[in-house]
Amino acid sequence: MIDKQILLLPGPTPVPPQVALALARPAINHRGPEFKALWEEVTVGLQDVFQTRSEVVILTASGTAGMEAAVANFVSPGEKVLAVSIGAFGERFIQIARAFGVETEVMAFPYGQAADPDAIAARLAADKGQEIKAVLVQHNETSTGVLNDIQAISRARGNHPALLIVDSISGLAAADLPMDAWHVDVVIAGSQKAFMLPPGLTMLAVNERAWQAAEKCTNQRFYLDIKKARNSGLKGQTPFTPAVPLLFGLQESLRLLREETLAGSFARHALMRTMVRAGARALGLELLADDRVASPAVTAVCVPAGMQPAAIIKPLREEFGVVVAGGQGEVKDRVFRIGHLGYVSCSDVLAGLAALENVLADAGAAVSRGAAVAAAGAILNESIGGK
Ligand SMILES: Cc1ncc(COP(=O)(O)O)c(C=O)c1O
Repeated sequence: MIDKQILLLPGPTPVPPQVALALARPAINHRGPEFKALWEEVTVGLQDVFQTRSEVVILTASGTAGMEAAVANFVSPGEKVLAVSIGAFGERFIQIARAFGVETEVMAFPYGQAADPDAIAARLAADKGQEIKAVLVQHNETSTGVLNDIQAISRARGNHPALLIVDSISGLAAADLPMDAWHVDVVIAGSQKAFMLPPGLTMLAVNERAWQAAEKCTNQRFYLDIKKARNSGLKGQTPFTPAVPLLFGLQESLRLLREETLAGSFARHALMRTMVRAGARALGLELLADDRVASPAVTAVCVPAGMQPAAIIKPLREEFGVVVAGGQGEVKDRVFRIGHLGYVSCSDVLAGLAALENVLADAGAAVSRGAAVAAAGAILNESIGGK
């Protein structure tokens, strides 16, 4: 059992056994009728998760390619976007937009905070010439463990015609994002997060307004051309060789999500968030994000003064088999991140917290062993109606 690990990562997340078995299914012809049926099933299933009637495009690539596709297909060189950044993935969106020759106005908020919808509303209201063609923003900023209020950001857009393009790579299925109801134009997801799959697929849900923008877009794209993907998809195919095993896995993970229900998945993630936060606080640890904006997918925990994240991350892995993530961007040396995303249960969270309190105590921190598990356990107990 020495190789058994508990992955508390914000991606790649653990893969359920049913999905792992689906990944191992025998090969099929990706131009044949079996593939067409599989394709039709997963694209329709994805619409439920995106909560949209719009088309969903699946690309064989990691999430960053989905972000790149969003820039390359919807904004042209020289056009302007408002890039709202609250952390390292917001910064990545800025880099991508600039790489594609898009004039990128940055609205950045400090690490640990959410974007302020009022500031976005004021900026868009001031754009009398409607030069801003799109707003780029993260749903769940994985580097800081902050969830943006996409509904409020969408409302903040008011009547401004800018597309709202949301990177929900680590948010979708963990936190509510009803794309159609909230008038979001493009939502980007990734397979290795709440979809409980290995990395390798990115999915983009694209509404009619965004398809129209894609028609006019003059940016360079070839592999990531979503119009090509759409046209092939209508025939139950993909323009290039698809990752068939991942699509078998997706078929199974969609089935699991249907079984749990989206509401059930949101509730599980929210419960794990509350447990992790209570457990960390019981050990005297500070959290980067405020409760009001805390992510249900990942929690960035500040390391005690004088300690490096590696002094916690390494013994957690080596002594307890508990794998957490390091920091990113400007908080790299200040935090470690506990993922509670995808195929993770409350018991995994309790095990992770038990390991954490022991690692801290062993390092000489003034913590009482058992405190984190007791605090998180009390929350779990309350949620299941225990005494
Ligand atoms: C919010 C967010 N955006 C983008 C990405 C990039 O995705 P990938 O690493 O699959 O390219 C990630 C990955 O962690 C993410 O969490």
